[in-house]
Amino acid sequence: MTVKKCLFPVAGLGTRFLPVTKEIAKEMLPLVNRPIISYGVEEALASGCEDIVMITGRTKRSIENYFDRSFELEDILRKRGKLELYYKMIHISEMAEILYIRQREPLGLGHAVLCGETVCKDDYFGVILPDDVFIDDVPVLSQLISVHERLGGSVVALEHVKPKDISRYGIAAGDETEPGIFRLTDMVEKPKIQDAPSEYAIMGRYVLSPKIFPLLHTQQAGAGGEIQLTDAIRELMKTEPVWGVVYKGRRFDCGTQKGWLRANIQLALEDDELRDVVLEIVNGNK
Ligand code: UTP
Repeated sequence: MTVKKCLFPVAGLGTRFLPVTKEIAKEMLPLVNRPIISYGVEEALASGCEDIVMITGRTKRSIENYFDRSFELEDILRKRGKLELYYKMIHISEMAEILYIRQREPLGLGHAVLCGETVCKDDYFGVILPDDVFIDDVPVLSQLISVHERLGGSVVALEHVKPKDISRYGIAAGDETEPGIFRLTDMVEKPKIQDAPSEYAIMGRYVLSPKIFPLLHTQQAGAGGEIQLTDAIRELMKTEPVWGVVYKGRRFDCGTQKGWLRANIQLALEDDELRDVVLEIVNGNK
């Protein structure tokens, strides 16, 4: 019943970060002192996943390079006696087994998940959208996996959002069977506020049944002309339970410039070595 594989769809174009994302992977932008993607990978590993499957695109080579060995750099660091950095670099390349699959065209999140079918078709698997960075004591993916282990079925992370933000997210509704856990009955991608079935938005963490794949195969393009994961999960609800879990923890939306900036400032303020720099700027001191 447990979840050992985690899929990372990272083939999106990142248009909200253009022009920087013309050539640079959004997931490689720094969040304080390491790339955004590393937070998601650490969360997956801390949640008990052993295999990481990245669905990548043309401009995402740097992700592969980041998690690979860099013999030249390691050699220089070792020869210069920078052993702490040397071991840090080795650790990054050894932290996970990562498989890369190319999504040839960015046809949507649902299509990106479908690209992982050959690897994930035999069991329930996790999905992490690394733009959503969660900082918490209990990793959010593991909160979802616990519900899957206890109740079976698929699970998505939910957050109560303000009405003005509803049209930015997939919105889910259902019956609250225990505090913070909903058996979902409906799900709509980016609805208008008047069409939204609730104020609970799906955030970038899922545990999905392999039965999602046949449903994704037959899915027509939905909102934004993309193959939507939300539409396939709504179909899945007809045959097996899909739970919504109001996660515990803090979320930073690093998929937008403002969210990414806010996350950097907040986490820098919480860092003993960086806090003073931020405070000096904010207070207008040099
Ligand atoms: P987003 O909706 O954030 O799209 O995708 P995006 O392309 O990353 O960014 P914007 O909106 O253009 O600025 C949600 C997740 O789905 C992945 C993205 O990489 C992101 O992790 N995705 C999206 C794919 O892997 N393939 C796609 O075709 C679309």
